Amino acid sequence: MQPYLTKEPTGVQWMVDGKPFLVLGGEVHNSSSSSLSYMEPIWEKLRDLGLNTVLAPIYWELIEPEEGKFDFALLDGLMEGARSHGLHLILLWFATWKNTLSHYVPEWVKTDFARFPRALSADGRILPSVSCLSGECRRLDARAFAQVMAHIRETDRDYTVIGMQVENETGLLDSPRDYRPEATALFESPVPEELAAFLREREGALSPELARHLRPEGLSGNWREAFGLLAEEAFMAYHTARYVGAVAAAGKAEYDIPMFVNAWPAQCPGEPGGVHPSGGPVAAMHDIWRCAAPALDALAADLYLENFAEECAAYTRLPGNPLVIPEGRPDRWFMAHAFYAFAEHGALCYSPFGIEDVGHIQAPPPDAVIQSVFQTFEGRDTSALIRGTYGILRSMSRLICANRGTGKMHGILQGRLMNQMVELSGYYAHISFANFVDRMEIPAGGMILELGENDFLLAGAGYSVRLVPKPETPPHFEYLSIEEGSFVDGQWVCRRRLNGDELHPVLPAEPTLLRVRLFGYR
Ligand code: DGJ
Repeated sequence: MQPYLTKEPTGVQWMVDGKPFLVLGGEVHNSSSSSLSYMEPIWEKLRDLGLNTVLAPIYWELIEPEEGKFDFALLDGLMEGARSHGLHLILLWFATWKNTLSHYVPEWVKTDFARFPRALSADGRILPSVSCLSGECRRLDARAFAQVMAHIRETDRDYTVIGMQVENETGLLDSPRDYRPEATALFESPVPEELAAFLREREGALSPELARHLRPEGLSGNWREAFGLLAEEAFMAYHTARYVGAVAAAGKAEYDIPMFVNAWPAQCPGEPGGVHPSGGPVAAMHDIWRCAAPALDALAADLYLENFAEECAAYTRLPGNPLVIPEGRPDRWFMAHAFYAFAEHGALCYSPFGIEDVGHIQAPPPDAVIQSVFQTFEGRDTSALIRGTYGILRSMSRLICANRGTGKMHGILQGRLMNQMVELSGYYAHISFANFVDRMEIPAGGMILELGENDFLLAGAGYSVRLVPKPETPPHFEYLSIEEGSFVDGQWVCRRRLNGDELHPVLPAEPTLLRVRLFGYR
């Protein structure tokens, strides 16, 4: 059965082979999947790290090197590579934009500025990004994407490909908007009625940042009158979303599997569009993207920032938008971020970026931008951390999917404070990181899953738990048992019973899964 997203009353599920699926992913570097021989040793490594899904780019320029002639050899090889290693694929459609740049358009697009106009800055510079108002580029990008999806439908008989990311980190850098005369004329015209009506209907439930700037009475005027300081970014969001939404819809018309876009988030509140890509699917623009690109299933975010908890909350604020993190940190933050996203926000996918470099740290190249990619590795080998974390998550995956949105899963994430408080059904759980800070090389984190009354799973590393009965719960309790173990085929399998000196709900410095059972009395 082909993959799809279902909306349960409690949240969204990513259905693969007819069952809810937790994407334990990893995204390869931009250029790795341009070569099947380069990928050859990588598949096995990624399977051994415990991934179930690889996120890998495919490239418009290699699929349609000559206009109208399509070459799917690379795509076929990637599907075969993943399939033969028991891995799924989420393919990233690097086409009109990759980090806002048009570096992956075919050469016949790249060199023809007349047919495929570039965005212009306010001072008339030609920017390295095709204009989001280029109808011709949109038509041809959508045509190529539709061909890709038709090819996957026809050849991927066992559903190796479970989803698509459409473009990559869209928007415009270095300029708040496209200043081509056509764009300026549109910017000075009234806000399109479909958008005005959509926002009016949702007034009161809009993204807080958008709501702060939006003047509802201005919605019958031009972009500046309606959106004030956010006018340029809102304008770019609408037109970029229309473009990407049309590409996604063309692909879905051929083969309807889950599709999402990824945002390069703002690095601080109030940052103007153009510093982060202006018009990309950042949280403040979600309402506009939802209106202009209804074909998309999710507006995802690449989350490398240390205010991870706030970012997760911002990217799940839009009703019905599941948390998908196609790019996360592969470094010492990996464990805490992965557990937190899955538990606290019911994330469908977590996927550290540059996954094939884990455990194999190359000397960073001299280029500053590329260096920042390598710096996320901080010279550490995180393969044991990833293997340990994904091993636990894989064993818990059925339970995690079943508990999405039920309020029974709680994320734990060491932040600026030494303690965290989690409210369980019968108890308050006081989480303390204090005993571990000096001993841990990684930030502490994990999750608590309430299996049943007085029956809890604690996963992660670097914290201890003190349970305090709630007023309605018997005031005293004892542990029945604490066990370290895992789930195999849905059954708990105890590896060590910890009822002696170790009878404390303490998660050591390495990823661990504990089952804690207790009984209360008066
Ligand atoms: C975000 C982009 O989406 C990726 O393709 C890659 O360029 C990373 N940044 C590098 O950090």
